[in-house]
Amino acid sequence: MNWYLFIFGSSVGKKMLMAVTGLGLIGFLAVHLLGNVMAFAGAEAFNGYAAKLHSLQPYLSVFNIGLAVLGLVHIVIGTILFFENLKARPNRYNVYKNPGGRTIASDTMPYTGILILIFVIFHLFKFTFVDKSVTPIYQLMAATFTNPLWVLLYVAAMVIVAVHISHGFWSMFQTFGINHPHHMPLIIKLGLLVTFVFGIGFGILPIYLLIIA
Ligand code: HEM
Repeated sequence: MNWYLFIFGSSVGKKMLMAVTGLGLIGFLAVHLLGNVMAFAGAEAFNGYAAKLHSLQPYLSVFNIGLAVLGLVHIVIGTILFFENLKARPNRYNVYKNPGGRTIASDTMPYTGILILIFVIFHLFKFTFVDKSVTPIYQLMAATFTNPLWVLLYVAAMVIVAVHISHGFWSMFQTFGINHPHHMPLIIKLGLLVTFVFGIGFGILPIYLLIIA
């Protein structure tokens, strides 16, 4: 079987594509989180960091196109897998083959995925596709998070992101066969750490900006 048929024609191949693109998206989130930490250093530091980032054109555009492709492949293959699973097990409660890995997070992957997509579209219109020449990005962010409703919305979105990552991270190891019982306690601990770092790391900034406003 050639690689193209394996990746797109088999369920294992598609799961590998999900794992690789998911890992890439987690990598982006790690960089984004490090950038957000600059906001705790104040307006000047964060706006300076953002200006430096935007001065990296055209590399930033290439990075963003790569990110969009990763996101798109993750969504399209995830949707295909969702419908394939649905067809394969009409009564999924009777024939589920992997009860050990079944959690609320695993059962809700397609739904948390859709909610994250909606959040990202909202988020891009809120902070990326806006004119930052009059109001710099830190001030834009600080003004947004003076409103407790925006804070609530962002914190809820970060909980959803954390839940999605918690299963995605675990699932990635399963897909690549790194699921020996000897390694499982470490993988579970690592998954929890990643979940909390992203959930709390992202969620704390809107709360902080609301408090200091
Ligand atoms: C409290 C949490 C978050 C805050 C405060 C935040 C803030 C920001 C800001 C200010 C920008 C614009 C940066 C600029 O143009 O200078 C941005 C861009 C972006 N954010 Fe977030 N973000 C958060 C969480 C997330 C999450 C969880 C995701 C993905 C699931 C995400 C995805 C993106 C994307 C895709 C971009 C555009 C990247 C680019 O243009 O290179 N963000 N974010």
